[in-house]
Amino acid sequence: MVFHKIAPDIHWVGALDFDRRLFDELIPLPDGTSYNSYLIKGSEKTALIDTVDPSKEFDLVENLVKLKVDRIDYLVINHAEQDHSGSLPMILEFFPNAKVVTNEKCRDLLIALLHVPPDVFHIVKDGDTLSLGDRTLQFHLTPWTHWPETQITFLREDQILFPCDLFGFHMASSDLFMADDAVSLRSAKRYYAEIMMPFRNSIKGYIDKVRALSPKMIAPSHGPIQKNPSFMLDAYSDWVSDTVKNEVVLPYVSMHGSTQKMVDHFTAALIARGIVVKPFNLTRTDIGELALSLVDAATVVMATPTVLFGPHPQIVYATYLANALRPKTRYASVIGSYGWGGKSAETIVSMLDHLKVEVLEPVLVKGLPDEACMQALDRLADEILKKHQEAGIV
Ligand code: FEO
Repeated sequence: MVFHKIAPDIHWVGALDFDRRLFDELIPLPDGTSYNSYLIKGSEKTALIDTVDPSKEFDLVENLVKLKVDRIDYLVINHAEQDHSGSLPMILEFFPNAKVVTNEKCRDLLIALLHVPPDVFHIVKDGDTLSLGDRTLQFHLTPWTHWPETQITFLREDQILFPCDLFGFHMASSDLFMADDAVSLRSAKRYYAEIMMPFRNSIKGYIDKVRALSPKMIAPSHGPIQKNPSFMLDAYSDWVSDTVKNEVVLPYVSMHGSTQKMVDHFTAALIARGIVVKPFNLTRTDIGELALSLVDAATVVMATPTVLFGPHPQIVYATYLANALRPKTRYASVIGSYGWGGKSAETIVSMLDHLKVEVLEPVLVKGLPDEACMQALDRLADEILKKHQEAGIV
């Protein structure tokens, strides 16, 4: 493996995972990911910030060996999820005198998840500092920047922020530093959608706190290091804001073509009204792309056939996901076809209880869509346009 020097006596010692294609057995990783771990040598003490996924623990050990690290005083754990903490037991075997520096909630999770011995911890509270001699670590508790125990660490003298999951993104890259370009921004937005969007309201409060620290560099625990913190902070300010765009996300499934005809007509109707529409055939969709589309869209419309009296299971999955991700979507509706009855619209609407959406009149048709059905879809498109105009986004 490789290690990189970020600044004098500060090294990236993490692991690149070019091959990983799924995270949490849920999130597709088209660009792999990295698990970033950072070694900071102060004049008196040495700290390691986060570890790596246990599947890559020997990469971390190898990097430490190559750097001739013979002592670690502090193992700072910003987040208990195993992709960052999972190598902690092995690192503690190599450095048995090290103290695990984290907050109380994280300690409890590390004991539960990894059976870390309770006597190895040095517990920090919000705003606490820890001296490495000529350098100072400063800790800020930032609950719900993925889990309830998450914290960020700031290296005061060098003004480097180590926020773990927050502000990172899934990308394995041989480049140590991120390019401030559209590719990085898209990857970061997708990661925000998949990981951070449910915690939008918590994150809103942290952005100004981070800006007040005036970081010169953001060193997250996934993806390249950011030399231009404003690039990511400005993007996050936009994503977490209440501003929505003139967009409709249209996840759909069609079994025998009826719902497909409705989706085709409805898509054309929205385009004709100047509304951006993003249809997703769920049988062929990368759910990360679907999540990404939900970040800004004002409206989501689920399109489903009827299976055993209810919506198609793929639509149920997408609806569950949209509800769990809690996008700032303002309007929702359902379109689709049925054979002899069913409660598809009611079921889907009942599953959106985490979203503060106004439900627009669903359009459901028995069998093949007819002219009356197409006119109803046109009326729904009119209603969406009206709502978007009232919201001032057209
Ligand atoms: Fe990258 Fe929440 O772990």
